[in-house]
Amino acid sequence: MSYRAWFQCINPQCGATYPLNSIVYQCQQCQSLLEVQHDTAALAARGAAAWMKLFEDRYKSNEWPYGSGVWGKKEWILPQISDHNVVSLYEGGTNLFWAERFGKVIGVQDLWIKLCGNTHSGSFKDLGMTVLVSQVKQMISEGAPIKAVVCASTGDTSAALATYCAAAGIQSVVLLPRGKISIAQLVQPISNDALVLYLDTDFDGCMRLVQEITKDPTLYLANSMNSLRVEGQKTVGIEIVQQFDWEVPDVIIIPGGNLGNVSALGKGLLMMKDLGLIAKLPRIVVAQAERANPLYRSYLRNFESFEPMQAQKTLASAIQIGNPVSFEKAVRTLKQFNGIVEQATEEELADAAALGDRTGMFNCPHTGVALAVLIKLLKAGKISKSERVVVISTAQIPNRKAPVLVTADMVASMRTGSVIVDLAAPGGGNCELTRPDEEVNANGVLILGPMNLPAAIPGQASQLYSHNATRFLSQLLKDGAVHLDFDDVVISQTCITHEGKPIGEQIEALLQGAKA
Ligand SMILES: Cc1ncc(COP(=O)(O)O)c(C=O)c1O
Ligand SMILES: [Zn+2]
Repeated sequence: MSYRAWFQCINPQCGATYPLNSIVYQCQQCQSLLEVQHDTAALAARGAAAWMKLFEDRYKSNEWPYGSGVWGKKEWILPQISDHNVVSLYEGGTNLFWAERFGKVIGVQDLWIKLCGNTHSGSFKDLGMTVLVSQVKQMISEGAPIKAVVCASTGDTSAALATYCAAAGIQSVVLLPRGKISIAQLVQPISNDALVLYLDTDFDGCMRLVQEITKDPTLYLANSMNSLRVEGQKTVGIEIVQQFDWEVPDVIIIPGGNLGNVSALGKGLLMMKDLGLIAKLPRIVVAQAERANPLYRSYLRNFESFEPMQAQKTLASAIQIGNPVSFEKAVRTLKQFNGIVEQATEEELADAAALGDRTGMFNCPHTGVALAVLIKLLKAGKISKSERVVVISTAQIPNRKAPVLVTADMVASMRTGSVIVDLAAPGGGNCELTRPDEEVNANGVLILGPMNLPAAIPGQASQLYSHNATRFLSQLLKDGAVHLDFDDVVISQTCITHEGKPIGEQIEALLQGAKA
């Protein structure tokens, strides 16, 4: 049986189609977004049970490239690509973490976290990038004049693009907003030989530029407005259902920025329903940072209007996006899945991430947004305790495998005053939020946080953790609750907070222990 797919305009009044090897990102008739359409009749001929069996047989097998979570579903993704042109780094197949303890803490009985960050470049972007770069490789082999593949990024997209292009031997170009991505994510494309343009603008500014420069057909656009990405990312929903032995969860929560991923999640699930693999759909919740919440604002108006906004600085830097390209697709998905949009403040997201970590996770701030939203919706009664809930964790914390070791020498050289070593800042960090130097000057206490830790490698973990740690400490100092007038070294092993409490007890105990 031969299967076929093509680009189709999402505007139902238009429906124009284009072959997958044409260099086109938006409908040339009406400028709407495109999506990949499949020959559903041909796919349906195989039967749901046969598809499930095939996907199970291939799942994580050694049969290249079908052991990949994406390419194991190749007929549903890019059926016409030759295996020879597939650029795969064995993406997908990520753990569905049973968050039993966290569920108990927050009061939901059946909670699961889909760890999409456990992958080659550290985020779910690998799922879509393998598809896009494979298609580019095929097009180049057919003689397309593509010189480079280009994207705007808040960090994760550029890391994924650079790594897949490097693996394929194709030049990548990434446009990044200066100072708005973590250094760890700046390092990834540089290491992978991308041409890195670090620009004085925000993500939305980079996105406008990318759309401009990719009018040149030799520069191929890799952002998620290119619906090839969505095809790979749509496997996440299929994989979750497969991991539940083909049972559909009640609710799936996903953090949203440019809104390609929620559209992808919906697309995969709808395809399963159309082809008879499942009979019901879950409810989809999009979680946004309050400082970058254009979808949330529109949701409050029943999606009757949409206003792009200037996104503000947020710990969840990958979703600091004010003008999401896939807004229309996301709204369509939310309407089909009885959707909810909720937002989280900086404090809510940091506390939720840290609370989750105490039960065995290691959350990035974007996952923190989704966990915070779960907590809020439970409190509001919009998700019930008995529902099976899946939270999509979109990325891992960069540099998590390279914690900074505080050596005796380092501590000795700093015994000029009281020293607090924030060991929970494993990666160091570029956190303007924490401003440890202020605490040094005002209180004669050196908080050995990310900025002044000599061997620090910047990373997102520390942004969260030292934010919590120093926020608490400065509060303690301001309240006069503790007097740090001894010149011992205090080592704070765990600077984890939930609503300000546990960290207080821990640090206080440490301080008192040191005094005694
Ligand atoms: C870690 C992370 N989480 C969530 C998102 C949001 O995905 P989307 O932009 O498709 O909404 C992104 C990318 O923007 C991301 O990098
Ligand atoms: Zn059209």
